[in-house]
Formats: sequence, C-alpha cells, structure tokens
Amino acid sequence: MSSEVTAAVYSPEELKALNGQLRGKPAEEIIRWAADRFGSEITFASSFGAEDVVMIEMIARVAPEIKVFTLDTGRLHEETYEVMEQVRVRYGVPIHSYFPDREAVEALEREKGFYSFRESIENRKECCGIRKMEPLRRALSGMKAWMTGLRASQAVTRTDMEAVEWDEGNGLAKVNPLIEWSEEQVWDYVRAKKVPYNALHDRGFPSIGCAPCTRAIKPGEDIRAGRWWWENPENKECGLHS
Ligand code: ADX
Ligand code: SF4
Repeated sequence: MSSEVTAAVYSPEELKALNGQLRGKPAEEIIRWAADRFGSEITFASSFGAEDVVMIEMIARVAPEIKVFTLDTGRLHEETYEVMEQVRVRYGVPIHSYFPDREAVEALEREKGFYSFRESIENRKECCGIRKMEPLRRALSGMKAWMTGLRASQAVTRTDMEAVEWDEGNGLAKVNPLIEWSEEQVWDYVRAKKVPYNALHDRGFPSIGCAPCTRAIKPGEDIRAGRWWWENPENKECGLHS
C-alpha cells in the first residue's frame, strides 16, 4: 500500500484520501503501513483489553519494532497485571509502563481522599488527568503518531472515528487499525489465535479500565455500561480519546 502523504500534519483532504485507501484493509496491513510511515516515531497504547491483546499479537508478527506502552494508573485490577505479564512473556514484547507523578497522586489522595472521582465529573477528570493524561503526554513525547485498539462500534462517542485521525489535543496522528472491527471479530480472533486475555472478560466485563471505575454489566447492557457507570454515556471519555 502506498501513500502520497508525507507530512506528519494531515489536512482534512489528505486524511479523507488516506482513510479511503485504508478502508476495508486487514488490520495487519494498516499496522505495517503505519510502521513504514512513522518508523520509530509511532507507539502503541495498550490497556490489555481484548482489542489490545489482538493488536499486540499482530504487532509482534508484522511490526515488532513498534514500541508498546501502557498507562499503569496505580488503580488497575490484578487480572490486568496478570494478562500484561502473560502477553509480555508469550510474545516477547517489552511493555513500557508509564506511572503517574508520585507527588501529584500523593497530593490528590491527601486532599480529596481515595474515591474523589465518584463525587463529580470534574473530580473524575482530575483523577484521569493525573493518572492517565500526564503519563500519556510523556509516553507520546517525541512521537509523530500513536496507535490504539479503538473500535467505532464501542461507544456513541466513537462512531465517527476513522483508521487515521489527526489528534489535535496531543498534536500528532492517531492510527486505529481495528476501527472497523466488530466485538465478535475481536473474540473470533482471540479464540482462533489463542491470545491470552484478561480473565475479567469472562466475568461480565467487556470493557476494562481502572478497578474502582469499572464493573460487570448485565446481559443486554451496552458494552461500556460498566465504565464510570454513574455518568452519562456522552461523558464517558477520560480524555485519552476526546
Ligand atoms: S478509555 O479511554 O475508555 O479508557 P478504552 O478502555 O475503551 O479507553 O480503550 C481504548 C483504547 O485506548 C485502547 O485500545 C488503548 O489503545 C487505549 N488505552 C485505554 N486505556 C489505556 C491504558 N491504561 N494504557 C494505554 N492505553 C490505553
Ligand atoms: Fe482515576 Fe477512575 Fe480515571 Fe482511573 S478511570 S484514572 S481511577 S478516575
């Protein structure tokens, strides 16, 4: 696949053309295209949910040079650390974890307690800001693009997303190779390739974030109903993908 786009900053017209070229392509092809396009200046963000373990299996096969990072918020489930370790060992991929600033967490917990995120959207965003956004900025520093396991059908906030986007907030491109995938496709792939996955998925957790902000859903509920369940669906982004 070739692209005539050479600048890191894509114009809306360039993005449209690029997404036209990538639409319907296998995820591996998009990953390889991104590795060729951005070289060492692209990095994959993994939360180790089902989509992300699929992405790591593919990256390890077709573009092992891509750096894999995770935002270790300090509030993750034990099961998430377990799958991180399984994937790390199985695919031989170094996992670069980014931890929040120690002083910022200490101040937050001292001043507002250990569950401030339950009190208001403002407080929730403050916690995500400290535990996710600041470490994300460090993970993306010096990069021209980042890659995610986002899917358009995951949430009302994601339906318009494309394979390649311009991430205005972070000032770099964002590549989403699984954007067109359905949840079923993800699970078919996990089973076919026997990819290790987070044990919480078998306990009613289709979408997994931090432990105190994620719960199991009931059959028929929206897949993100267990994330920040006390908030409206339109607000349910932590800032990573706004
Ligand atoms: S979130 O914004 O609501 O937390 P979600 O869990 O759906 O996001 O994951 C979407 C994508 O965001 C993942 O495929 C991954 O690329 C990235 N992501 C989410 N959480 C993390 C994390 N803790 N560390 C690294 N990347 C993450
Ligand atoms: Fe804090 Fe919850 Fe956001 Fe995790 S998901 S950073 S615990 S508010």
